[in-house]
Amino acid sequence: MMTDAKTTVCALLGDPVEHSHSPLIQNSFSETEGVNNIYTAFRLKKGEAGTALKGAFSLGIKGFNITVPHKTDVIPYLCYVDPLAERIGAVNTLVLTEQGYAGYNTDIYGFMRQTEESGFDITGKKVIMIGAGGAANAVLQGLYELGAAGVYILNRSVDKAVQKFGQDERNVILPLNAFKEIPGSGYFCAQCTSVGLFPGNSDSPIEDKEFFEKISYAVDVIYNPEETAFMKKVRACGGKAENGLKMLLYQAVEAFYRFHGVRVSDSGVETARKKLYEKVYGGDGKNNS
Ligand code: ATR
Repeated sequence: MMTDAKTTVCALLGDPVEHSHSPLIQNSFSETEGVNNIYTAFRLKKGEAGTALKGAFSLGIKGFNITVPHKTDVIPYLCYVDPLAERIGAVNTLVLTEQGYAGYNTDIYGFMRQTEESGFDITGKKVIMIGAGGAANAVLQGLYELGAAGVYILNRSVDKAVQKFGQDERNVILPLNAFKEIPGSGYFCAQCTSVGLFPGNSDSPIEDKEFFEKISYAVDVIYNPEETAFMKKVRACGGKAENGLKMLLYQAVEAFYRFHGVRVSDSGVETARKKLYEKVYGGDGKNNS
């Protein structure tokens, strides 16, 4: 990658950051789209976001992705927060403006694009979401943006989910083992817990076959391992299942657009997808991350 005095800089802020795939994806996009930018990662301790952004603004750093533990903490230091990000209560993308940094949440776009591409139309339908952690925040908003009529939210801690999302006529919050209260079958389901994440490959937030018989299409936000135990169970009961790698890729496409005003071409997305796949799963399909 050639740099010169006109090269701009974007970076990930988080702690930890060493395992992030964002530098690979963003630098691949810059290369294919001909954008003179380098993207790196800074490990930033909790509580340091304000100081970091002040310095970054002086240096003209063009944009950031934000990850744990700063996604909510950084909000008071921004000059603008996109309404969707505000509703989610978390930002993952910051863009330099003359007034300071503007905050967006592109996770929601990643989830929405992946779901739209699946061809499973959730408009006017009730859907299922498992989990109430960080990933679930963006996914829940995404489900409603896509027109879901209501969401059955299954979570280990019901109180936490109720406090976060509110229990009303649209959000029906249940403990994991109360899935039998969900009537019928043919559901879209978003798996948003961390259960099944490498190295816990054999774990699933729900084990009961009766649950999986309700699912026609599932997106597991986990992408490591490539096929989670949850996905296996969906497929074993005749449903379709995808992991969250596309969501990761598509949130980056949206972030790239926010940073540079450039829409990544289809071939640019495919080039980055191949590099990401190789890095995460290896050429032999085995987990090597
Ligand atoms: P985040 O950093 O994204 O907020 P988290 O707090 O670890 O991550 O929670 C992620 C989700 O995984 C939550 O829904 C969590 O359930 P609780 O809200 O009950 O904590 C869920 N989760 C994590 N470990 C779990 C387990 N062993 N069984 C069931 N759910 C689990």
